[in-house]
Amino acid sequence: MCCRTGGSRRREIASERTCGNALNLFYEGLFTRLPTLSTKRLLLRRITMADAQDIFAYSRDPEVSRHVLWDTHRTIHDSRAYIRYILRQYRQSDPSSWGIELTATGRLIGTIGFMWWNRENNSAEIGYSLSRAYWNQGLMTEALREVIRFGFEEMRLNRIEAQYETSNPASGRVMEKAGMRKEGVLRGRLYNKGAYVDVALHAILRGDTP
Ligand SMILES: CC(C)(COP(=O)(O)OP(=O)(O)OC[C@H]1O[C@@H](n2cnc3c(N)ncnc32)[C@H](O)[C@@H]1OP(=O)(O)O)[C@@H](O)C(=O)NCCC(=O)NCCS
Repeated sequence: MCCRTGGSRRREIASERTCGNALNLFYEGLFTRLPTLSTKRLLLRRITMADAQDIFAYSRDPEVSRHVLWDTHRTIHDSRAYIRYILRQYRQSDPSSWGIELTATGRLIGTIGFMWWNRENNSAEIGYSLSRAYWNQGLMTEALREVIRFGFEEMRLNRIEAQYETSNPASGRVMEKAGMRKEGVLRGRLYNKGAYVDVALHAILRGDTP
């Protein structure tokens, strides 16, 4: 590790400061340099404008957007606007999403990523969506486990959260299978698609990982 020190306390403090700055720079650029992650069946990789058609193919499905905060895409322009937003997040190194590519076909079938990252408390929240054609094959659990690993190992997080509408139990099951624990239900937490909805909060702590 770069923080190994020797000699006087003053040198030690200077070294810690340098390491602290280096670490800050590392963290600040993390989402600009978002690395590709791989799992057994998936590549989690940066989204590009070339993915617009694949994203539109599933984001036009109201069943996919029913329990998320974005609206069903009406035309491919909506998908392109979403991609422009993601590219801006990458440029600014703001917490952002990977595209989920099915390795067997090379198609983009969903997204997963960080909604926010609180650097003071080393906490962050994950969100995700998957094309309906691929539901119930364990794919999102596979992706979520890998993003949780990235959060603890690369972002040095202490706590990772995820939330789902209680009327979307499949998402809660994904969180459980990835090792997250339910911490409670926040009643009427969100106004989504014309109604107030209850939201369940799940989290995993660094110490919870096996
Ligand atoms: C929720 C979602 C991510 C799940 O992805 P997925 O790849 O199908 O998830 P997995 O296959 O890894 O696991 C799904 C689990 O939910 C279970 N499940 C499916 N429908 C269910 C239901 N109606 N009630 C309870 N459990 C359900 C499955 O049986 C499976 O659990 P199991 O492995 O114990 O049998 C996917 O359906 C999706 O993207 N939906 C639309 C967007 C969305 O809701 N995003 C989440 C917002 S919080």
